[in-house]
Amino acid sequence: MATNLMQFPTINGFALPSLISRHGLASTNIHVRNREKAAPVREPTGDDKELKLHKSLDLGKPSYLSKAREPILGNGIIKANGHHWAHQKKLIAPHFFPHQVKGMVGLMEECATAMMRKWEQRLQENGGGVAEFMVDQDLRGLSVDVISRAFFGSSYNLGKTISTMLMAMEETLAKPSLIFGLPYLRFLPTKSRRKIWRLKKEVEALILKVVKGRQEGSENDDARKHSKDLLQLILERASTDSKLIQDKHKMEQFMVDTCKNIYFAGYVTTSVSASWTLMLLAQHPEWQQRVRSEIIEICGSDHSTMSLDWDKLSQLKTLGNVILESLRLYAPSAVIAREALADIPIGDGNNYFVVPKGVHIWSFVPLLHRDPENWGPDVNEFNPERFRGGIPEACKHPQAYVPFGYGSRLCIGQTFAMLQLKLVMCLLLSRFSFSVSPNYRHSPVYKMLLTPQHGMRLLVKKNCKLIN
Ligand code: HEM
Repeated sequence: MATNLMQFPTINGFALPSLISRHGLASTNIHVRNREKAAPVREPTGDDKELKLHKSLDLGKPSYLSKAREPILGNGIIKANGHHWAHQKKLIAPHFFPHQVKGMVGLMEECATAMMRKWEQRLQENGGGVAEFMVDQDLRGLSVDVISRAFFGSSYNLGKTISTMLMAMEETLAKPSLIFGLPYLRFLPTKSRRKIWRLKKEVEALILKVVKGRQEGSENDDARKHSKDLLQLILERASTDSKLIQDKHKMEQFMVDTCKNIYFAGYVTTSVSASWTLMLLAQHPEWQQRVRSEIIEICGSDHSTMSLDWDKLSQLKTLGNVILESLRLYAPSAVIAREALADIPIGDGNNYFVVPKGVHIWSFVPLLHRDPENWGPDVNEFNPERFRGGIPEACKHPQAYVPFGYGSRLCIGQTFAMLQLKLVMCLLLSRFSFSVSPNYRHSPVYKMLLTPQHGMRLLVKKNCKLIN
């Protein structure tokens, strides 16, 4: 295949470094700007470390992003700032701690098994040999299934409807002119804006209906049935919160925003990461076999009796390193943006400087993840081995590895996502072998997240027997 699978991702057709230089900015890793001037950019050393470890509420999400995504995110955890963000984080984040996520292995396995049955059926219909699959679409469906079951439990079909609507909103919002939240465009009553506002209303009404049903215990089934799903857990926690119980409207808004934010943040990120990981393994059969051997060693060679749990999945170190490497080369988020909401003093001694209030700080993830100074000359190679000693030993400045963001705004779904990725890869590799289809066109583009522009076409073959 002539395509270089390691080429730089693009935003609307421009490779990231050229996009930056088109705007007169330096082609480097961190960009700090305010309205008056573009300040020099810093390399990921001392100062940036300080910035990334900085946890005060004064370093928040930029308002221009928040405005552009208002219909999808409301004032939920992803875009909120200050005490409003801290309050939401306190109510939501504990449900994503490892001891809670551990209990989700079963539901994730159920969803993945359902997808794999369909694949087996399709392969059989194809004569039992090799067939080309557009895996990104199925993996997206799988992620929607997982998040719907985790969030809505037995009402997961509703979750699927909500995700379809959010997807339609996201497609419209991802159009180039709206990505960077250009002012005034969002006020024009264009056809697409009207569509977004209609979908927003419908999604919110659907979520509220379930929430009210749960609050009144009128959803046919009793509360016990929902005791394990995230909606119920978050609702119960919110119902003991003094700020929310006094104000019905605030409570409803919190539940609606939380649901939309978790869907938005959770399902596409995880499914595109799974697609890129499969592509890299398809392109590197030696790594595919190494991971398969590890799976056999830890989980057994008979996939019909294979039972997965948190402990076994945690032992799959080679698979873990493959996922870390895939998230380095194809991190779903291109830019991690912050705004100084007050003057922020950083560093000390000769390294001391103040980031003035109003300054925006952009970290370009692909540039951080593909900086040869930090990662070495093989930076553009797929080499999971580099993570053998963990992130601190994979590069000079571990704080420059940011697939899940940094500081206090670090992704709260990281454990959930890593568990899902490991489990799905483990099940898929134990049942199927993958190679890159000759019809695959490598063109990673940013549509809010890094996606394969023409889909992820892989050749899939059923494994007869697992061979170590
Ligand atoms: C591979 C999958 C995922 C990736 C690569 C990813 C990446 C990210 C990134 C880059 C951020 C922004 C952090 C920052 O600004 O510093 C973020 C935030 C967030 N993510 Fe994830 N994420 C993933 C999966 C998930 C999942 C599965 C969930 C929930 C089910 C989730 C929930 C969130 C939330 C709620 C935030 C906002 C946190 C805050 O601002 O306090 N993410 N994620």
